[in-house]
Amino acid sequence: MKVNAAHVSEIEHRYRGENPFRTLLYLFEEQKFRVGMAFLIFSIKHSPVWVIPLITANIIDIVTSHGSTKALLINILILVLVTLQNWPLNILYVRFQSRAIREVENRLRSALVERMQQLTMGFYLRTNAGVLQTKIIRDVENIEQMVRSLSDGGFVAVNGTIAALLITGIRVPIFLPFFLVLGPIIGFLISRLRSKLNANNERFRGEVESMSARVNEMTTLIPITRAHGLEQSALESMYKSFGNVKSAGLKLDAFNAKFNAIAWVTFQMANVSCLATAGYFALKGEFGITPGDVVLLTSFFGQLIGSVILLTNLMPLISRGFSSITSLGEVIESPDVEQNSGKPLLEDVEGRVTFDQVTFQYPQSNVPAIANTSFEVKAGEMIALVGPSGSGKSTLINMVIGFLRPQSGRILIDGRDLSSYDLRSYRKHISVVPQESVLFDGTVFDNVSYGMPSVTDKQVRDALKAANAEDFVNELPNGVETLVGEKGARISGGQKQRLAIARALIRNPRILILDEATSALDSQSEHAIQDALNTLMKSRTTFMVAHRLSTVQRANCILVLKAGKVVERGTHAELVGAGGLYQELYEAQSFLSDSDASQ
Ligand SMILES: Nc1ncnc2c1ncn2[C@@H]1O[C@H](COP(=O)(O)OP(=O)(O)OP(=O)(O)O)[C@@H](O)[C@H]1O
Ligand SMILES: [Mg+2]
Repeated sequence: MKVNAAHVSEIEHRYRGENPFRTLLYLFEEQKFRVGMAFLIFSIKHSPVWVIPLITANIIDIVTSHGSTKALLINILILVLVTLQNWPLNILYVRFQSRAIREVENRLRSALVERMQQLTMGFYLRTNAGVLQTKIIRDVENIEQMVRSLSDGGFVAVNGTIAALLITGIRVPIFLPFFLVLGPIIGFLISRLRSKLNANNERFRGEVESMSARVNEMTTLIPITRAHGLEQSALESMYKSFGNVKSAGLKLDAFNAKFNAIAWVTFQMANVSCLATAGYFALKGEFGITPGDVVLLTSFFGQLIGSVILLTNLMPLISRGFSSITSLGEVIESPDVEQNSGKPLLEDVEGRVTFDQVTFQYPQSNVPAIANTSFEVKAGEMIALVGPSGSGKSTLINMVIGFLRPQSGRILIDGRDLSSYDLRSYRKHISVVPQESVLFDGTVFDNVSYGMPSVTDKQVRDALKAANAEDFVNELPNGVETLVGEKGARISGGQKQRLAIARALIRNPRILILDEATSALDSQSEHAIQDALNTLMKSRTTFMVAHRLSTVQRANCILVLKAGKVVERGTHAELVGAGGLYQELYEAQSFLSDSDASQ
């Protein structure tokens, strides 16, 4: 755990809102040695590229001047050795390169998930889960690919340029200006063209992205589309999206063809001009240029131009990688972190919960979801929250959990202000059965014992029994070992809720929170669970949200919420005849159940 905690602070330190290139350097700072070794080894393994033209030039000069066979053999031998070393050194190069990249990739991902576990729930209310997944998977991958191609392509280009300029400078210095002028001109031309190509690329990518969003939308909406007979309009919108991809794709392909042709012709023409100039000088015997030099100059000039083109080709990858670096910064640098570290632990929770003038407003909203609310629940009591949809029940519950912090007022646990304690220690004493139960892709056993490593089979069975889930679990193909969740057995909403209740019970919490925990159950199973819950609630503080008022009648206190305010409070007996909102809700429900019964 400690090792992990270091990841974020370390990487956060490296982010500092700088430009992406600086950030990249920071990220790889610890990998200096590996990167340096990779470059060194690369330069050696890549040496054939500049040795071959040199040797070729030598051989041509030996041949044209009828030199010795020995000189020829020596040159050939060097060529063979220089070529063979490429084999082991390439393996070594990839080892250093890959270690450095994979290390940073791994760290980035670890830092991201750690930070996600520290961010406040408020952050998740604002941020789409898909976007976060993309950051961990795609953005990190983009950075990895950028660095990989920067290293492969960048090393080639740097090596090629240095070798070309150096050897030409030594062998035929008179040609240096020719290289130094033509190289940048061609680079400029190609990158101008390239930026047009990028614009086309972007347009195409945009169309593909919107198509994938459409496809996603269509597949999730299929049951609704079919139920309403809207197949045709769904298909038409898909056809339109495919059509856009097609026309953007055709444009891109056409431009690509043009770009490639122009780049190739420019490249060859530059080579021809070099060949012509060098050939002319050699023919006239000027500047001491030999036939070998003609070959050498042409090869190196080709290398120089090749390097320039290679670098311009890397541009899109680099800009994609840089935008991914920025995108990761949004999470890694987000200030919206739950402040836990360094705060004292909240241990020995008894379960007295006090709200003292608490107000909370969602950032996107302009009315408070909880306004100036005060109440106290004694340890072991059951408090029920009722009220119309949107009145603030779930919000209040989330404040008890510490997911949402009050903008004003205080929440006290056993008289201690929640905001000055480590919330993680406090939450060990809470169990929550949320409005929408979440099961993950594992067995019934795993789901019920989630987060409790040393649970016995008996404990799980007892919890299932208490949650009235034992019968249906026994009927599943593999009992408690049956896979539930996406790829497992399909279980019903009510069955899911019962597993979630079992999961809450097995933790033996001091504070139990049930947000509509029994809403998906029929009256009979609700009744059965209610009995189990009643026994379990005895020894702990329970918050219960329920629409069905039959479930809350035993509560020590019922808070009736309306538009974020507690408008009534008291026991069922007190409220049912008080002529307020509770009575209104109660009568509406008895009317409903009467008419249910008469059917
Ligand atoms: N993430 C959010 N951002 C902005 N406003 C929100 C958010 N969640 C809830 N609200 C608003 O806060 C108010 C209270 O919502 P809350 O979910 O607490 O109601 P509730 O009483 O639990 O309703 P229900 O019975 O339907 O579950 C509502 O007006 C709702 O629109
Ligand atoms: Mg709710």
